[in-house]
Parts: sequence; C-alpha cells; structure tokens
Amino acid sequence: MTAPTPADKFTFGLWTVGWQGVDPFGAAIRPAIDPLESTRKLAELGAYGVTFHDDDLVPFGSNDADRTKIIESFKAVLAETGLKVPMATTNLFSHPVFKDGGFTSNDRSIRRYALRKVMRNMDLAAELGAETYVFWGGREGTEYESAKDVRVALDRFKEGFDLLCQYSIDKKYNLKFALEPKPNEPRGDILLPTVGHALAFINELEHSEMVGLNPEVGHEQMANLNFVHAIAQALWHGKLFHIDLNGQNGPKFDQDLVFGHGNLLNAFYLVDLLETAGYDGPRHFDYKPSRTENFDGVWDSAAANMRTYLLLKERAAAFRADPEVQAAMETAGHAEIATPTLAAGEGYAELLADRSAFEDFDPDAAARRGFGFVRLNQLALEHLMGAR
Ligand code: GCO
Ligand code: MN
Ligand code: MN
Repeated sequence: MTAPTPADKFTFGLWTVGWQGVDPFGAAIRPAIDPLESTRKLAELGAYGVTFHDDDLVPFGSNDADRTKIIESFKAVLAETGLKVPMATTNLFSHPVFKDGGFTSNDRSIRRYALRKVMRNMDLAAELGAETYVFWGGREGTEYESAKDVRVALDRFKEGFDLLCQYSIDKKYNLKFALEPKPNEPRGDILLPTVGHALAFINELEHSEMVGLNPEVGHEQMANLNFVHAIAQALWHGKLFHIDLNGQNGPKFDQDLVFGHGNLLNAFYLVDLLETAGYDGPRHFDYKPSRTENFDGVWDSAAANMRTYLLLKERAAAFRADPEVQAAMETAGHAEIATPTLAAGEGYAELLADRSAFEDFDPDAAARRGFGFVRLNQLALEHLMGAR
C-alpha cells in the first residue's frame, strides 16, 4: 500500500490533533500545540489540508493586531507546506456565553453576537479559499422540554442560515454550508439530531441549494443509525457536501476514535460507497487522539486515520473485482434493483392489465428465492480481513 499523498484529499481539523484531553472527569493531559506546528506535521504525514474553528487559530478575545499577525503566519505556513483550507467553521460552544446556544439561544443579544462571530470567520474562510463552511450546533438544544419551544427555535435557526446565505451570496464568497447533525452531547438533546432531520430542515431554507451536510460517523452511530445508509441518502439528495470520518462503538458518549476503530465493517462499506459514488470532496478526519497518548501517539493516530482509509479503499476495490463477489452480487439482485419496476411507458393501467404481475403470479414460488446476502457479506468480511 502506498503512503498518503495530497491527491487522497485527507484533511484534519486543527482541533483534532490539538485536543488536550479535557473531559468531564479530568484536566488536560497534553500541553497545547501551536497550530502552525500541527499544520507542518500534518503536511509531513501526507495530508491535503487543514480546517479550523475561528478560535482554534486565533484565541478567543485576541485583539485585531494579534489576530492579523496570527493569520499572516498561518498563511505563510500554508504557502510553505502547500496545505489547503477547504473548510472552516465557528466555535459557538466553548465560551460560557453560548451555554444556551448561538443561533437559538433564548437571549436575543447572544444570537446577534453569534451571527457576527460567524460572519467574521466566513470572511477569513473565503480569504483562505475555503469552499465549505460547517455548522455544528453542539449547544443548540435543551435538557428540558420547558426550556424553549422547539418550533420557535427552528424559526431562529432558519433565520440565521437565511441571513448567512445572503451574506455569502452578496459578498460573492464561493461558500457552501454544511450542517453537522449530532443527537446529544454537550446538550441533552441537540436540534437537527440526525442526517434525516437536517435534510428536512434544509428544504425550508431560503437558499436550500447552497446548504448540505457534513455527517459524522460517530454521531449517527450514537443514535444507533446506519452511517452508510445516512451517507447514501445524503448522496441521493445531492447533499453530501463534506464528511467527518472517525470511529465509534455504538450508542454511548461521542468517542471520536480513529477512523475504523469502531464499526469496521460499516467503515469498509462506507469507503466502498464514497469511492464508487463519485464523492470528490475532502476525506476529513474529526477524531480525538485518546487521553492515554503522548505526542507520539497523537501523530501515530493521525497517520492511522489515513492508513486505515487507504487500506479499506484497497480492500473494497479487491472485493468489487473478485469474480466470486460479482457472482454473489448477481444472485443478490444488485443489477436487478436498477431496473425500474414499470416498463417504459407503463402506468398503473398497464400494471393492472398485466395478469403475470398478480392473477398469474405465484408468491410461494417467488418466496423460494434466496438472496444470498449472508454469503455476500461474508465475502466482504474475508476481503476486509485480507483472507482473500
Ligand atoms: C463533535 C463534533 C465537533 C464538530 C466540530 C465542528 O465531535 O461533537 O464533531 O468536533 O465537528 O467542532 O464544529
Ligand atoms: Mn464527534
Ligand atoms: Mn465533527
């Protein structure tokens, strides 16, 4: 297997390798790392780009002069390493002011401040050539149903996105927006908890054409949903604008493990889907190097994400090329589901007139068909394990 190169389009959030390990039960276990150092290190490892929240790059509360200085030195490192910034986002969750959310805080002055914070970082994102702007509403939610009327909160959420879309259009920024669903954590219940909820919400927006999704592996799995299905449906709607790859072991707290360090078979099918469905956006890793790791472990785990992706890509291609797999797919009816249920020009009248479809149809005979899905899955598993 070849080492990762920028052509693989692997990207990392500065907040991933920069995570100091603060959790609800313990303090930081690693010192802060300079974002410039992370950028250089990720370039060395073969990444294509880095992404950031405003506050990952420019500490919250920095004055304008310091902000300019930091941005200039970041640009210099981007030029030196050739790394791109395909995506940027806003931190609307760390500062105490956002404890009841940004766009949907009950406090109107906080909502206005949140929108200004986003606009300021959109200016920087556009300047750095980003094409996608992510919105993860981690604090947009409640612990108690009495806290707010969710219908009205959704009005405020829509108001925010409509305004920001208009801002991007008027400024001629080449930005698409990508919503990142998550069911809970840090709020008890977060608004737009799953891919499905977010897709429905997007339909209600003024500029729905410029708003899509940034689904994260672990977030759908926290809700016990099938991530491959979520991605397939996002693709079907033309809404897979970006993706957060990581690992999760079923419904529990958000683990943000290395990609593949969770439901590995689902990760295999995910890579197979991304590689065969024409997704050409960044393969973005949003993981946290576990608290047990020192800096060697941070860089090892960053490399592991890319290595796992490339291994899965290799195995998925071998799976597809295997004649036994092709025969099993034939048995399973893979090609058959692509044939429309009605013939060309047929409508319900023709279907009603077709005796073979009902009067002469033998359901018991049809029910004797075995689809062989288990054998097909076993073949996938054996390819994944390197046994074939
Ligand atoms: C999480 C989220 C966050 C967001 C990121 C972008 O793990 O809960 O993935 O990491 O992706 O903050 O805003
Ligand atoms: Mn997560
Ligand atoms: Mn994420």
